[in-house]
Amino acid sequence: MASKKALITGITGQDGYYLAKLLLAKGYEVHGLKRRSSLINTSRIDDLYQDPHVDGTRLFLHFGDASDVLSTVDILHQIQPQEIYNIAAQSHVRVSFDIPEYTADTVGLGALRLLRAIQAIGMAKDVRFYQASSSEMFGKAEPPQSEKTPFYPRSPYAAAKCFAYWMTINYRESYGMFATNGILFNHESPLRGETFVTRKIASAAAKISKGLQDCVYMGNLDARRDWGHARDYVHGMYLIMQHAKADDFVLATGRAETVRFFLEHAFAHVGLEITWEGEGIQEVGRDKKNGKILVRIDERYFRPTEVHVLCGDYAKAKADLGWEPTVNLEDLIKEMVESELQLLA
Ligand code: NAP
Ligand code: GDD
Repeated sequence: MASKKALITGITGQDGYYLAKLLLAKGYEVHGLKRRSSLINTSRIDDLYQDPHVDGTRLFLHFGDASDVLSTVDILHQIQPQEIYNIAAQSHVRVSFDIPEYTADTVGLGALRLLRAIQAIGMAKDVRFYQASSSEMFGKAEPPQSEKTPFYPRSPYAAAKCFAYWMTINYRESYGMFATNGILFNHESPLRGETFVTRKIASAAAKISKGLQDCVYMGNLDARRDWGHARDYVHGMYLIMQHAKADDFVLATGRAETVRFFLEHAFAHVGLEITWEGEGIQEVGRDKKNGKILVRIDERYFRPTEVHVLCGDYAKAKADLGWEPTVNLEDLIKEMVESELQLLA
């Protein structure tokens, strides 16, 4: 029997790697959309990718962009995938305040372009569509947040994700498309982008412990996030797409901790105990042993509007999909810091 074909937009990102790896292991032929860049941007997936001219290769990359509908139509025609995972995005919340129009275009309209292309070329009944929705859409809503919690987006990124979420539902209801939303809470890994808080902290802990960095500059240490492992979450994406009916699901761990907690645990893993002193932007974190300042606050990392607490209720995913997270926060922190130490070695 011919293998199933999946198209992943955003294959070069963190989730792209784990999802491609999972689908390849399940026997899929995987096609990924990568955007043109002046430097090679496939380092995360290099170990999955083989020469397309060699027999047996099941991962293929195509140039494309969330802002370019023509290339999307061509690729859909050419590949005829059964499953489409739309995970491409300008995914940095802080950056979305600086480039709101670009963020809205690629995150919000990007999803609509793909949905419209699928419908326009007559594939609406033949494909399953996954939209990478986000817990950021809950914004200011009180935790725990579930599929029933009304959205209160607090950034251009979150507002654009809400648009994409509703367009996905609109295409499901208007054209009978198997179109789904995964509302995913923060998920991390050693492959997390370097400017997201967990990777930034893991990298700083490793470098400071080796004497390669003096201090790390941080934003709001008291924001709380529900952090899980990306490998668990892409498995959840896959289960959402295999479900009998197109639906929307929250994937989370149900536990929220502060950025400060993450930082203290990451530094403890390299033998550095932090003591805190001062308040607001004057606050510093010192090495308990010698008083050296290891953490400072830089208001450039604050957001014009902050999302203070995200903590998800994943009961529906557990009941309907049998999905549960398998990696706890302490093990995630350890894995990320160990990976940074290995990179330095
Ligand atoms: P990521 O590491 O930032 O990856 C984003 C991917 O999108 C990269 O492949 C990137 O390409 C690509 N991309 C960016 N702009 C594009 C454009 N204009 N056209 C085509 N591709 C473009 O993000 P991630 O953590 O894997 O997250 C995957 C998806 O889930 C995103 O939609 C994100 O918003 C959403 N999400 C993430 C989380 C999380 O905690 N990780 C939680 C909820 C939802 P380059 O490699 O060239 O930059
Ligand atoms: N990036 C960053 N850098 N964040 C910091 C810093 C810093 O120096 N200091 C404190 N923070 C705080 C942010 O203010 C935020 O409250 C929290 O750390 C997490 O920030 P990020 O790691 O940048 O992630 P995010 O929660 O804003 O967004 C991520 O998760 C969303 C799902 O909830 C991204 O992956 C989004 O794409 C995703 O949708």
